[in-house]
Amino acid sequence: MKIDIVTLFPQVCTVPLGESIMGRAQKSGRLNLTVHDLRLSGLGSYRKCDDIPYGGGQGMVLRPEPVFDVVVPLQTPATRVVLMTPQGRRFDQKIAREFSQEEHLIILSGHYEGVDHRVVEGLVDDEISIGDYVLTNGSIAAVVFVDAVIRLVPGVLGDARSSADESFADNTQLLEAPAYTRPPDFQGMQVPEILLSGHHARIEEWKKEQALRRTRENRPDLVPGRDKNTFSQGEDET
Ligand code: ADE
Repeated sequence: MKIDIVTLFPQVCTVPLGESIMGRAQKSGRLNLTVHDLRLSGLGSYRKCDDIPYGGGQGMVLRPEPVFDVVVPLQTPATRVVLMTPQGRRFDQKIAREFSQEEHLIILSGHYEGVDHRVVEGLVDDEISIGDYVLTNGSIAAVVFVDAVIRLVPGVLGDARSSADESFADNTQLLEAPAYTRPPDFQGMQVPEILLSGHHARIEEWKKEQALRRTRENRPDLVPGRDKNTFSQGEDET
């Protein structure tokens, strides 16, 4: 997949996406990544990219000219333009899977108090938020988005099973069971005996129970059959 990231902070993207599995995805050609420095298209000798908001308000807003200047020449009929913003649709595994089918993404990372809305109206296909919190730098959100999408591209994870079996895979809505490795005894804390037993059927059963228990504790909203609109006594409506 081809991805262009447009950002004022290229290093925030190139460094983490050059490491580990994303780095290997680039080397193998499965990810064709270019990070564009928006500053180079800024206005005047100061390369100005932002300005104060009309109508008042705090912070600075990204001007439309530098963004259009970088993005328009990169667009083809196959391109989808994504803006990272806390005002976007909340990102999840289903949306990651949807984007992993695309041929070409241009990802704009917003900054300061936002991006001139003519960018959203004239260029952007999808506004995406990575969660209900505000980062100081949308480029961090762009990295999270690219990692979650690219690991779903066939061949990026060595073992095809590894993205199918995990939490949030399409057919399971449970978190994963706890994992253990050597040593069997660490400072008096034992690996559950069942995992050392070699009984594959019982181990699978144990994993299912543990997955359900962990989901109930950490993410009750994901437990199958739970009606999200009803709350038992004493349970917070959050
Ligand atoms: N920029 C700042 N916060 C963000 C968020 N939660 N998601 C996407 N982009 C952002």
